[in-house]
Amino acid sequence: MAEAFDVVVIGAGAAGLMCASTAGRRGRRVLVVEHANKVGKKILMSGGGRCNFTNTGATPANFLSANPHYCKSALARYTPADFIAMVERHGIAYHEKELGQLLCDGSSKQIVRMLLDECEAAGVRIEAGCSIEDVRAQDGGGFALRTARGPFTAASLVVASGGLSIPSMGASGSGYQLARQFGHTVLPTRAGLVPLTLSGVHSERLQDLSGVSLPIEATSNGQSFRNFMLITHRGLSGPSILQVSSYWQPGDALRLDLLPSLDAEAFLREQRASRPAAELKTVLSEQLPKRFAQRLCEAWFSNRPMRQYNDPELRDVAAQLHHWPITASGTEGYRTAEVTLGGVDTRELSSSSMASRLVPGLYFIGEVVDVTGWLGGYNFQWAWASGHAAGEVA
Ligand code: FDA
Repeated sequence: MAEAFDVVVIGAGAAGLMCASTAGRRGRRVLVVEHANKVGKKILMSGGGRCNFTNTGATPANFLSANPHYCKSALARYTPADFIAMVERHGIAYHEKELGQLLCDGSSKQIVRMLLDECEAAGVRIEAGCSIEDVRAQDGGGFALRTARGPFTAASLVVASGGLSIPSMGASGSGYQLARQFGHTVLPTRAGLVPLTLSGVHSERLQDLSGVSLPIEATSNGQSFRNFMLITHRGLSGPSILQVSSYWQPGDALRLDLLPSLDAEAFLREQRASRPAAELKTVLSEQLPKRFAQRLCEAWFSNRPMRQYNDPELRDVAAQLHHWPITASGTEGYRTAEVTLGGVDTRELSSSSMASRLVPGLYFIGEVVDVTGWLGGYNFQWAWASGHAAGEVA
């Protein structure tokens, strides 16, 4: 005999736990089924172990989706202030890192503990280490699930199974399969917030500079991000590169401005006038990390005393500094990506409740949906907001 619940949530991550506690508080009998042995694994590893749990400046403009309007309703009805109020109610100390990013002073374990306490107070049952064998819509409404812990039925089924990033953390892609099973369109997925790889000569020129970091502006497909770039063994990373990676695909133009706060041509002309005997690499070392400036002068420019550069040559060096001629070959992929772009098509979901427009009682929340945030706490804010929206009606 199947045990009956009002709501079954698939996935005990950020969105699933928020949805479960919200629905439980309304008096719904809620079960969360999690196939990993532990709940909230991505929360635990997030923000370097301190969970960047929201961003106070989150607006719909910080999210990518084929339908940029879709996220507006949920984000407006559950705001960063709402989540901060919960964090404060639980006595969790936090701080702002930069640009509105809020992180725990202590550990991301506190956020998982808070969500589990909220679920417990709302009477939610959580089954971790429980794989799902089969999910079916029942004649007459509702859903039947066969799991490793036996059969369950539910009036509402909420899919909160996340995306494909970091498969070792439980990412499975099963949410997309379920969506297709119920007739939903799944838009093509790809890795987002992910390091870019270099190959051939670009890789060879930079490999031994791994660890060097500098502030740049990265631009692709109309979006620019000013922040640090980090050179890695395989390519480029750091916040500016991770951000732009969500807008870039192989073959797209990528502009990396190495001196975004400076008029490089004016600077170089002024240096030529004031210290004509100084070499270009010495001059550039004042604006860029020394080893990086030296490498630019070995591999990209010719290194000479400033007096030996004529005007067109200085203009060319300046142009290359503002638009570094380097081509990324690809990304590191889901193995290291923070998020998955694409997913369940929002045109078939209600923007106020996250409910399927095709199957009554079915909901999709969090990363499995085609809504992806920037780096900096936006993705968790989407998980809380979409989880809350579904939890209020499921
Ligand atoms: P999430 O992936 O959290 O949860 C899905 C759950 O479903 C998982 O527990 C999974 O095991 C389970 N599941 C999957 N298939 C299942 C099945 N068939 N049956 C049962 N269970 C199943 N964001 C941010 O805002 N601030 C940050 O600091 C970071 N930092 C960060 C670091 C790293 C390393 C990564 C990889 C990601 C981040 N992110 C982040 C992104 C953030 O973690 C992500 O957007 C949210 O966790 C998405 O929440 P969901 O609940 O949708 O999925």
